[in-house]
Formats: sequence, structure tokens, C-alpha cells
Amino acid sequence: MNKRIIATALAGLVAFAMVGCSNSGGAGGTTSTSNPPASGTSTTASSSSKGIPNCGTIGVAMPNKTSSRWVADGNAVKSQLEALGCTVDLQYAADDIPTQTQQLDQMITNGVKLLIIASIDGTALTAQLQAAADKGIKVIAYDRLINGTPNVDFYVTFDNYKVGVAQAKSLLYGLKLTDKDGNPAADAPKGPIDIELFAGAADDNNSGFFFNGAMDTLKPYLDNGTLVVKSGQTKFEQVATERWLLINAQTRMDNLLSSTYGGNGAGLKGVLAPYDGLSRGIINALTNVGMGPTIPEGLPIVTGQDAEIESVALINKDIQFSTIFKDTRKLAAQAVTVAQAYLTGGTPTPNDTKTYNNGKKVVPSFLLDVDTVNKDTIKPLLIDSGYWTQAQVDAGQA
Ligand code: GAL
Repeated sequence: MNKRIIATALAGLVAFAMVGCSNSGGAGGTTSTSNPPASGTSTTASSSSKGIPNCGTIGVAMPNKTSSRWVADGNAVKSQLEALGCTVDLQYAADDIPTQTQQLDQMITNGVKLLIIASIDGTALTAQLQAAADKGIKVIAYDRLINGTPNVDFYVTFDNYKVGVAQAKSLLYGLKLTDKDGNPAADAPKGPIDIELFAGAADDNNSGFFFNGAMDTLKPYLDNGTLVVKSGQTKFEQVATERWLLINAQTRMDNLLSSTYGGNGAGLKGVLAPYDGLSRGIINALTNVGMGPTIPEGLPIVTGQDAEIESVALINKDIQFSTIFKDTRKLAAQAVTVAQAYLTGGTPTPNDTKTYNNGKKVVPSFLLDVDTVNKDTIKPLLIDSGYWTQAQVDAGQA
């Protein structure tokens, strides 16, 4: 092992140990770097006290504050970098593309040493990334790939195709077509079972991965007629949701209910929803026409993503069926590991060098795994890991 590999491995250990330290802060909390490390984490204390020599300022650009996940991501990245001695310029762009490009322009002008970016529109940052490259500033795409530019150095994310697979599997389980492990259920309903499909924002590279993973998984059931998309809207362009907005999903669901389900949802059994914000918009539309109010009382199975606290509370009350848990602390730790490698003259180690072609190059990536959360796994996955507390789940807010 050469020194560089050892340094990278050490950086990973530091970031990993820091995930443990940040647990008490959970997803909603800001992790205080002035807290003493918990007992048993002396490695963290001694390694992180060395930090990154002359780290300077790191620019962190996040899309919006309206989704609790990006707030959790921003807090986690910031606190973990600060623990290594860096200054962090963390900016949120209110889902407005010009705001995000201006924030990046400003960060580059101010002389940041590295950029970590969760983009709003994955194709809108070419000029900024060229300016960054001209100044030798490394760019890490965070969760969302940045397309159409050679100047993105690394991509940290979750396995986005697998997220879609997990969402579809959860829908099949909720519809009692499979058991919890994905095996065909012995007493599975014969169908046809009416469902509807939603996808994310068309300008977010992840949306296609989620949708393809889900559709590949649902295909056999759609092909043999067990599942039917009654509206006929099965193409990505027909089901995409602009800006990932709750209200856009709610409006589309309202329209589907009146055009296809007799205005009261009759017969609709399931909805593939790729993100908790959309799930809540869809559930609003369903309950507004008198469905439910819970799944046992006739509310369709609605999936989700991100384990947002508002949705975890709905899952706990049998209103939303599931979500996909993407542990933002781990993603932040991975981004910090990559940043540390670059800032100390090393090369970060990808675990995927094939999947994410951004139109200019295949971007070396590090993909993390995800978990599906149902009512019975809120405790082991979200509460026991310190992501949310029981009180937060009960209150439905961070
Ligand atoms: C995606 C992200 C999802 C969800 C969605 C809406 O890019 O991967 O986890 O957060 O944006 O914010």
C-alpha cells in the first residue's frame, strides 16, 4: 500500500467514525463540531484534530430548503468538513436555477478550494464548472449528476437504479402480489389491479434511473395484465413532475382522479411515487376525494423516497405505505472522504466507473446502498440509527 492509499483509507475511516458521532444530531439536527467525541471514538478525535492542512473554504451548493433531506445533507456536509478544519460556504438556491448559478459564480470568485454541488438542473452549470476547472477547483456532484460537462470530477450518490427497483418492489408487496422478500405471494390477487405512475423532475438525471428501475421491475406484471395503468400514462414524459413539487403531483393526481377514476378514486389500488414530497401531494389528492383515510380503510398503496419526517409520520399512521431511506449522513461522509482525498493531493476511489455517463465522460462514482422503510421498520432503520427520534416521528416534524 502506498502512502496515498493509506491516506485515502484513513480519510474514509475518519468520515465513517464521524457518521457515528453525528448520530445524536440525526437527520434534522445540526451536528455541533464543538461537542466532545462520544466515548470509544478516540480514533476520530486524534485523526480529525489533524484535519486537512490549509483546507480553506469549501463551497457547498444545495437545491432547496423546502425538502428536509437537503437541509440534513447540507448540515451533515458542513459539520463534517468543519471538523476537519475547513470553512464551509453552504448555500441553498430555492430551486431557482439562476440563483444556483450565481451562488456558484460567487463561490468561485471568492476562491473556494473545492465545490460540492447538488444541482437543480443537471445541465445548467457548464459555464460555472468551466470557470472552476480554469482555476483548478475540483467539483464533486452530490446525489445528482451534473451533465454535459467534462469538468465534474467525481459523483457521490446512492444506487439510483436500485432505488427505483426498491420502490416498485415495495408497491408489489403493498399490493400483496409478493411477500416481503419479493417472492410471489401464495394468495396473490389475480388482477387486473389499477395503478398510476409518477416520476421526478425531467431535468434531474436521477429521475430516469428511478423510473427505469421501477418499470423494469413492474414490467412482467404490466405485460401479463396483473397490473394496469388505467390512465394509459406510462411514458416518462407523461408522468414526470416538474421541479419535484408536491403541488404538481397533487394537481396531476386530482386530474387523474376525475378523468379516470370517477372523481372518487374507485378502483385505484396503488401509486408509484418516487419521492416523499410527491407522495404527500398524491395522498392529499386521494384523501380530498374521500379515499382512506388509512390504507386499511381503502387508501391506495403509495411509495416514496428520502424518509422525510413528515412522510415517516404518515407511514407510522398507515397513510403512506413506504419510503426509501437514503442515509444522508453516509452520503455526506462519502463526499467529505472524496473532498479530503482531493485536498490532500490524493485520488478518491470510486466503486463504479461504468454507469454514469454525463454526455461528455463517464464520471467516476461512489454509490451507496438504500433501505426500504415500512411501518414495522421505522424503529430498527430510522430510530435505532439515530436518524429520527420517536418524538419526531410522533410529531411529524424535525
Ligand atoms: C433527487 C434525489 C431524491 C429526492 C429528489 C427530490 O435528486 O435523489 O432523493 O430528494 O431529488 O428532492
